[in-house]
Order: sequence, then C-alpha cells, then structure tokens
Amino acid sequence: MIITVGNTKGGVGKTILAVQIAIARALAGRDVWLIDGDRQGTAAAAIAARAENGRQPGIACAQYPDGPALRGQVRQQRGKWQEIIIDAGGRDSTALRAALILSDVLLVPFAPRSYDVWALDDMAALVDEARSTRDGLRCFAILNQADPGGHSSDNADAAAAVAAVPQFEYLPTPIRRRKAFSNAGGAGLAVSELLPHDPKAVAEMEHLIASLFNIQTIVKQE
Ligand SMILES: Nc1ncnc2c1ncn2[C@@H]1O[C@H](COP(=O)(O)OP(=O)(O)O)[C@@H](O)[C@H]1O
Ligand SMILES: [Mg+2]
Repeated sequence: MIITVGNTKGGVGKTILAVQIAIARALAGRDVWLIDGDRQGTAAAAIAARAENGRQPGIACAQYPDGPALRGQVRQQRGKWQEIIIDAGGRDSTALRAALILSDVLLVPFAPRSYDVWALDDMAALVDEARSTRDGLRCFAILNQADPGGHSSDNADAAAAVAAVPQFEYLPTPIRRRKAFSNAGGAGLAVSELLPHDPKAVAEMEHLIASLFNIQTIVKQE
C-alpha cells in the first residue's frame, strides 16, 4: 500500500501527518518506508531527530524531491515494504505528480478556512491527470488544524465543502490543532510516544489511521 500525503498548498500538515502515520505503522509492526518528496526535507529532519534520540523502531526514510528519482526508486523498491508513505508537496512539484501515479491512496490535509478548501480544486486537477493514466487512486480530504474548541458543525461544514469536489471523499476523522502534534512532529515521535500524553491527540491519530487502513482492507476485498 502506497499512501501519498499531498497538497500543493504548504503549511496544511502534510509532513506532520506523513510522519505520524509512518511511525504509528512501524510501531504496529509494519515494514514502513517514509519518503520525503519535499525539497525542504522536514520529514527527513524529524526522522533524523528520532534516530539521534535512539528511538526504536527506527524509520527508513529517503529524500526524493525530484519526480523521476522518486518514481524510479519506488518502482524498484516497492516490493521490499508493506507500506510506503510519501510526503509530497509544493506547487508544481514533480515529486507530487510522480507520487500520484504510484499511490493507492492520496490523503489531502486542509485547514478549516475557505481558501484552503478552494485549494482542493488545484489538487482535483492533479488527481484527474493521474487518473487519466491509471485506475484505482482513492482520494481523501481530511480536516487538519481544526479548532479544538470549535463547534461540532465545523466537521459538517468541512464535509459539505469536500462534497462539492467530486474527486475527493471526506475522511471523517478530523485532526485538531494541538501542541502535542507539533511537539511530537519536531522530535520525530508518534503522539503515542510523547510525554506527557495527550489522550485526545492520540485518539484522533488512532481514528485517522484505523479508517485509512480499514479502507485498504475494503479495497482489497472488492
Ligand atoms: N494538528 C496540528 N496541531 C498543531 N500544529 C500543527 C498541526 N498540523 C500542523 N501543525 C503545525 O503547522 C505547521 C505546518 O505543518 P506541516 O506538517 O509542516 O505542513 P506542510 O508539510 O503541509 O507544509 C508546522 O509547524 C506544524 O507543526
Ligand atoms: Mg512539509
């Protein structure tokens, strides 16, 4: 299973989510390969911080900010891994386009502000392009950095906004803005490893991961 966390827009939480998903799956005993497809190298830096602290399991991580290198390496090495998580971003990034051709699932984080919702249109065009050359790319939009004290209607508003973009399904497991996510991300830790524990952050991430990987089970049975 190859999952790309992508959005042409920056600052929406691609790196935070890709790193959290990769570590959580490694903790669950899966063979995971995290690919940093962003020239800024934030995901690779988080994994380097994890290694410096001697945290187990270590996470295999490679940096391929260029589309051709990413495509070539993933094609060559995909059989070695149970799960490949790609952090791909940046407007007109060749890595993002290459990742979309290879992925089973695209996860698009967006923030609960209208201009981020509109950025989904940008992604929708890239999804159309990828789907024109291959079948089976499932695309999910997920609300990130939602207001922790927000109204329960925020989730419904986000779902309605995503429903207007037919390329995407709404993944109803929103992630809220919590210090635990930024602290864990910077240190290369899963929120479940971070002390003091933030049970709400841990639960949100568990829900997200369960729904992402249950979807895969359903896809396989189809
Ligand atoms: N759910 C969240 N709670 C708290 N901080 C977050 C959350 N999601 C992202 N951030 C913070 O927002 C900033 C941008 O997130 P990042 O994952 O780097 O975005 P991107 O990779 O899309 O550019 C980072 O400083 C990150 O720590
Ligand atoms: Mg990033």
